[in-house]
Amino acid sequence: MNSSDSSHPTSRPAAGKTATDSSEAVTNTQWGGRFSESTDQFVQAFTASVTFDQRLYAQDIAGSRAHATMLQRSGVLNQEDLVAIQEGLNDIEADIRAGKFQWSVALEDVHMNIEAALTARIGDAGKRLHTGRSRNDQVATDIRLYLRDACDQAASECTRLLEGLLDLAGLHAATIMPGFTHLQTAQPVTFGHHVMAWFEMLLRDLERLGDTRRRLNRMPLGAAALAGTSYPIDREITRELLGFDALCENSLDAVSDRDFAIEFTSNTAICLMHLSRIAEELVLWMSAQFRFIDLPDRFCTGSSIMPQKKNPDVPELVRGKTGRAYGNLMALLTLMKSQPLAYNKDNQEDKEPLFDSVDTLLGCVRAFADMLPAIEVRHEAMRSAARAGFSTATDLADYLVCKGLTFRDAHEVVGSAVAYGVAHEQDLADMPLTILQGFSDQIEQDVFQVLTLEGSVNARAHVGGTAPAAVKQAIERARARLDTAYMPN
Ligand code: ARG
Repeated sequence: MNSSDSSHPTSRPAAGKTATDSSEAVTNTQWGGRFSESTDQFVQAFTASVTFDQRLYAQDIAGSRAHATMLQRSGVLNQEDLVAIQEGLNDIEADIRAGKFQWSVALEDVHMNIEAALTARIGDAGKRLHTGRSRNDQVATDIRLYLRDACDQAASECTRLLEGLLDLAGLHAATIMPGFTHLQTAQPVTFGHHVMAWFEMLLRDLERLGDTRRRLNRMPLGAAALAGTSYPIDREITRELLGFDALCENSLDAVSDRDFAIEFTSNTAICLMHLSRIAEELVLWMSAQFRFIDLPDRFCTGSSIMPQKKNPDVPELVRGKTGRAYGNLMALLTLMKSQPLAYNKDNQEDKEPLFDSVDTLLGCVRAFADMLPAIEVRHEAMRSAARAGFSTATDLADYLVCKGLTFRDAHEVVGSAVAYGVAHEQDLADMPLTILQGFSDQIEQDVFQVLTLEGSVNARAHVGGTAPAAVKQAIERARARLDTAYMPN
């Protein structure tokens, strides 16, 4: 310990009074001589964040290790102190991991809990750790480190989900189902094409995570409370040690903004919105009214009163969790609204919504990654639904246009044919040629090729179309796009 080493830069007495030259005893153990009474018990608990920000302990310790190393290399801290700090932090981290660490609300937050424990273990060297930094740049650094990991974890779960979708789409490139608009049968599509629509939605979510990660991977440390520090620090050393791509360029901005957390909760809200749409389709399709799919029992629950029930709980719950994801985004946007520079205690409220969004996103994406590849597809139910709803009516109109009608006239002709089909409960493909010719004398025997479901989907073989051949090509391109979606080369 170097407490008696007066030549040590950080052991010089601070300007003004210190605890030793004061005539009065310090009456507030936490905030020191400025205070003449201790914090109100309720206020202490009310302002504390340690119950939730202890989640940041690993990042906080990593930040402290890097900061101490930088202080030593910059000549602010001596080697002996550095070793004591590193060893002390290692012990504390091990204790926290083992559940042996005593968190104290009186010490307010994760930062002061760890610092106090360090000082208790190693003495004055522990008190030197906070040289040249503030909890303001410390917490901003911790959250960025935490969120960087959360982005990586979410990206890996998202990638697993997307790979599962590509496999599912490959299996069903030629499986025909009705496509819907307004939830009314519109045109036949392939189930593989439908799954690839989900893929596109979620691929953009993965890309958004990568965008957010790139923007947040800048280091606030060095900003100290708000204005920077008068010690000869070298921020490049800390940046390198902590794996940040760059430094936050302005100290006021570094300690105050939480736009990166807003971005993450926004990404989560958008992704949950997408998952809720998929969830809604799964719930509908599993119903007795659709019967397009079944979910394996392990993703469902039963009813305590109705023995016949098998409920799609996982998709329903994901759909429901969208509410909290939107709520967390609103909470953070509102938290930051109108906050003057620089740090305000308001910012302590950033953590719970952010942590909840991280947990929600990881949980929902994981559940879908496990469940979606396992859905059982009822080909026949999908096919007969596609046949039942006049889904090839547009194909008949296109056929008539090829025979010389204008599209509007063709639309009119087919409308009459559909009205007849509704009245006689007969699909277009099941009508005798003579009946069809009653609507237009341009209709000939070859019409039945376009009225079939296969004819309809195969005709849409361009990029982005629903034809099985187009879907297979889309899957191939998608595999390459997935490789670079999160981290572009
Ligand atoms: N617990 C605080 C937070 O989460 C740490 C920063 C406190 N800084 C301060 N000046 N009170 O934001």
